[in-house]
Amino acid sequence: MTGGAGFIGSHVVATLTASGCEVTVLDCGHPAAHRGPLPAEVAGVPVTRADLRDPGAVAAALTDVDVVVHQAAMVGLGVDLDDLPDYVGCNDLGTAVLLARMARAGVHRLVLASSMVVYGEGGYSCAEHGRVRPGPRVVADLAAGVFEPPCPICRTPLVPELVGEDAPLDPRSVYAATKVAQEHLTAAWARQTGGAVAALRYHNVYGPGMPRDTPYSGVAAIFRSLVEAGRPPRVFEDGGQRRDFVHVRDVAAANLAAVAATETLGGWRAYNVASGRPATVGELAAELSRAAGGPAPVTTGEFRLGDVRHVVARPDRAATELGFRARVGLAEGVAEFASAPLRG
Ligand SMILES: NC(=O)c1ccc[n+]([C@@H]2O[C@H](COP(=O)([O-])OP(=O)(O)OC[C@H]3O[C@@H](n4cnc5c(N)ncnc54)[C@H](O)[C@@H]3O)[C@@H](O)[C@H]2O)c1
Ligand SMILES: [Zn+2]
Repeated sequence: MTGGAGFIGSHVVATLTASGCEVTVLDCGHPAAHRGPLPAEVAGVPVTRADLRDPGAVAAALTDVDVVVHQAAMVGLGVDLDDLPDYVGCNDLGTAVLLARMARAGVHRLVLASSMVVYGEGGYSCAEHGRVRPGPRVVADLAAGVFEPPCPICRTPLVPELVGEDAPLDPRSVYAATKVAQEHLTAAWARQTGGAVAALRYHNVYGPGMPRDTPYSGVAAIFRSLVEAGRPPRVFEDGGQRRDFVHVRDVAAANLAAVAATETLGGWRAYNVASGRPATVGELAAELSRAAGGPAPVTTGEFRLGDVRHVVARPDRAATELGFRARVGLAEGVAEFASAPLRG
């Protein structure tokens, strides 16, 4: 497991170990992820401190390995352009080093932590023009409080639709571009080696151990940090952005299912890992405030370029092919998350 000391990785380690897998963990303790020291072990598994970009360290970690579960990445929106080389270095060069060393070591099974960000905006349709793809968001529209993307042909507001795995890839941030590159690199590797890759496109993951508010954090952690401080969650845009919030224990279960599937899977295949029950960012904030007994959210109208309006997942493929279905409902997951420990 790469990135096994991270938020999602540590839950995956626990789930795999509990199911009887023998797990080894490689993690560099990236400063964007770990403000404190890298833990010496995760769920009883020692953490080997090594950077994916170091071919010797990766080769050493690949002894006696059947499957690689590749969670390591630099996450976030990639707002600060000074971070661009580090995003590409960790996510793409790191993946390239891993794939080269796996081929050499004869390791043919890979589970990749991909992301819904590969889709950019989710699916949309126009009453008149059918399925269309909205263009990049326009600052003037956002500043004027016009958040729904318009039809690129007739400019009427679009209706969001569930996004399936065959939707076109349309990365809209530096981070998203590096996740698309990971998918393409692993697909090329699968073709060239005859290997099997399950690319798990996680939607918005939340749950215990999520990193506290940082420039790299997801929205749930940002809200949670505010709630913990007794402050109202600050909701950007008008709060109507739709997402699929999926609990980290469900994501870990999807990884376990994918590890098993790579035994029989031929080639490369993408799977949405989602709850299948979309919610708005405003609803998430309200649910968290309620669960914590704190002040109600405020909607600020602020926006970030690179944020998409709606991405809601079609979860069917992972259900039929991996046997994965999310079990933790939003109210239940958020009730726990409201007081769960966060990573420092
Ligand atoms: N959190 C989400 O909502 C979400 C959504 C979609 C996809 N993902 C993907 O899931 C994976 C795990 O994300 P997370 O939220 O747990 O992030 P995280 O930052 O908590 O964990 C990532 C781990 O990777 C390690 N790492 C980074 N660069 C490395 C390198 N060069 N060499 C070795 N280790 C390195 C970090 O030290 C960290 O422990 C990532 O691939 C991410 O793109 C996360
Ligand atoms: Zn139209």
